[in-house]
Amino acid sequence: MNINKTVEYIQSKSHAIKPKVGIILGSGLGSFVDVLEDSVSLSYDDLDGFPDAGVSGHEGNLHLGKIHNTEIVICQGRVHYYESGIVDAMKIPVRTLAALGCETLILTNAAGSLMEEATPGSVMLLNDHINFTGVNPLFGEESTQRFVDMNDAYNESMRSTFHSIAKDKNIPLYEGVYIWFSGPSFETHAEIRAAKKLGADAVGMSTVPEVILARHAGMKVAALSVMTNMAAGMSDEVLSHEQTMENADKGIQDLKSLLIRFLELYS
Ligand code: HPA
Repeated sequence: MNINKTVEYIQSKSHAIKPKVGIILGSGLGSFVDVLEDSVSLSYDDLDGFPDAGVSGHEGNLHLGKIHNTEIVICQGRVHYYESGIVDAMKIPVRTLAALGCETLILTNAAGSLMEEATPGSVMLLNDHINFTGVNPLFGEESTQRFVDMNDAYNESMRSTFHSIAKDKNIPLYEGVYIWFSGPSFETHAEIRAAKKLGADAVGMSTVPEVILARHAGMKVAALSVMTNMAAGMSDEVLSHEQTMENADKGIQDLKSLLIRFLELYS
């Protein structure tokens, strides 16, 4: 796989945009791309090593553009470990963002809340994670670079910027630990009780592999979850994908507004 060719192709199509920030959008956040100015869109189908677009209903487009003076590239659509059992399915997209010049990666996702007070529709900034899957997207990497330091994996200075934006905008912003379960089945009640004892505040099936890949590629990382439901056993709800997405609306609006301001201030 020749990332350089993919990077050259993207650069040839994107009018000399030199993105400093990469974003990977999770479920329900796809419309965020509408805020980009002077944007160019490319289908994953035309990008070597990117996941197939259109499989299992997720979008598959790369968008380049600007918000104020910040040049940005957005992956609209990610693949999850549970879709194929391939743990490094997002390796090429993450490395492509780094090769395009991104120094920062921002990830968004939908998650279940383990915090009583963070009800569906809340937003949580990740300050750490627990990889509960036993797999790692760097399996098979050969150089000693594979032993990636995960100190400050979720950049402290960017977290503090997000908090001050949230304060200005009067948006409640929780902060906590995200635990990665492989899915696709939702968790059992016992798994959520265990996760809580381990120190988790939110549970989900994504993000962690991309964070590991991004730290390996030398990017700073920030990540935000929209709580779409209380985690299994914490309410009477029966969990389903459709129902979890219905609850996400308020959180999606809050997250979008935090992210837009963050990007306006970035440059
Ligand atoms: N568990 C795992 N992933 C999720 C959940 C959940 O409760 N909600 C949204 N994504």
